[in-house]
Amino acid sequence: MNNTNELIRIEAVTHRFGQMLAVDNVSLTIHENEFFALLGPSGCGKTTLLRMLAGFVTPDSGRLMLDGKDLVGVKPYRRPVNMMFQSYALFPHMTVYDNVAYGLRQEKIAKAEVAQRTAEVLEMVGLSGLARRKPDTLSGGQRQRVALARAVVKRPRVLLLDEPLTALDRKLRVEMRLELKRLQHEVGITFLFVTHDQEEALVMSDRAAIMNAGKILQFGTVEELYESPNSLFVANFMGESNVFTGRLVVTGEDVTLAGNSGTWQVAPDAHRRANLTHGDSAAIVVRPERLRVESAASAPVGEIGNALEGMVTDLVYLGSTIEYLVELRDKTRLVGRVQVGQQFGDFKPGATVRVSWNIQHGLLVAHPSSAAPLAK
Ligand SMILES: Nc1ncnc2c1ncn2[C@@H]1O[C@H](COP(=O)(O)OP(=O)(O)OP(=O)(O)O)[C@@H](O)[C@H]1O
Ligand SMILES: [Mg+2]
Repeated sequence: MNNTNELIRIEAVTHRFGQMLAVDNVSLTIHENEFFALLGPSGCGKTTLLRMLAGFVTPDSGRLMLDGKDLVGVKPYRRPVNMMFQSYALFPHMTVYDNVAYGLRQEKIAKAEVAQRTAEVLEMVGLSGLARRKPDTLSGGQRQRVALARAVVKRPRVLLLDEPLTALDRKLRVEMRLELKRLQHEVGITFLFVTHDQEEALVMSDRAAIMNAGKILQFGTVEELYESPNSLFVANFMGESNVFTGRLVVTGEDVTLAGNSGTWQVAPDAHRRANLTHGDSAAIVVRPERLRVESAASAPVGEIGNALEGMVTDLVYLGSTIEYLVELRDKTRLVGRVQVGQQFGDFKPGATVRVSWNIQHGLLVAHPSSAAPLAK
């Protein structure tokens, strides 16, 4: 969705549990009708941030705004925000229908409207036929739909979903990704979705934020995060990476990275975008699908960029692609992912290959490392 009306504004929000800085000066804006993913490793503060939006945790400092109004001090049930918990928390003694209708009845909404809205939402999540069943007679996926129906029936402005798919098996999880996205389109509610699965975030979200140790490291569209990470952490978190480390050498317009196993050309200006200068420790990240794997004996096709020789040590067929594991002389291991039918050769383990990448596909990031300083 391309609606960029701001709905949620999180401003310099901090929360500690005792000495533990769970959320550290986080600022973020979320647009109306957006599917936004909050992504990060376990313990980085994702749930705490959601709980602050829902009103279960109060920020130590900072502001939380929804539609331009300050949320701090507003009771959880008065916020136009609903949270869907991983455990679903369905009422076991109530039917599916009553579970969904419960929140509306609590609000003393007229009977006819309760019936109409409940039926509409059950239809939307494909549960009309199961309305009279009890939760313990449902599958995990069906139970999850009930929880979703119950969360959207009250028409909140924002639905907070804390790792909603983790309880499901892999096949169902993959199906539910698309279902959730479809549902979000249909109901037109902003979804703020927490996950630590980058694939999930890539498939479902319009934009995402990467969080680590209480801080937001980067936010943007998932493409931006994948193609232009601002740190090695974000690059690694968003997908598989081949990483080359070294020191940046800037000589006029010519920029290279001097590493232990070679010197690599860097795209002009990449260092400025990454805020790096001559002598800084840095890394080039190359995604597996950007690494070309060719026969070492063949003449290079097109612009070669950076090239290295290595040996195929293993390969994995993934249906439409093949992954080649390539070991360089210095034992560095690289992964190249090649489309079946588009590869330049069909390599077996032991084959000598040339791996190369176009300099535009080498993503330059800072690298907090111990690479030896450049000689003067
Ligand atoms: N009620 C609490 N009391 C004390 N510490 C807490 C409390 N809730 C969370 N924490 C701590 O705050 C930090 C952030 O926790 P949070 O639950 O927000 O992480 P998370 O990113 O959701 O992790 P996960 O992916 O494992 O769910 C953790 O170190 C956690 O131990
Ligand atoms: Mg959590």
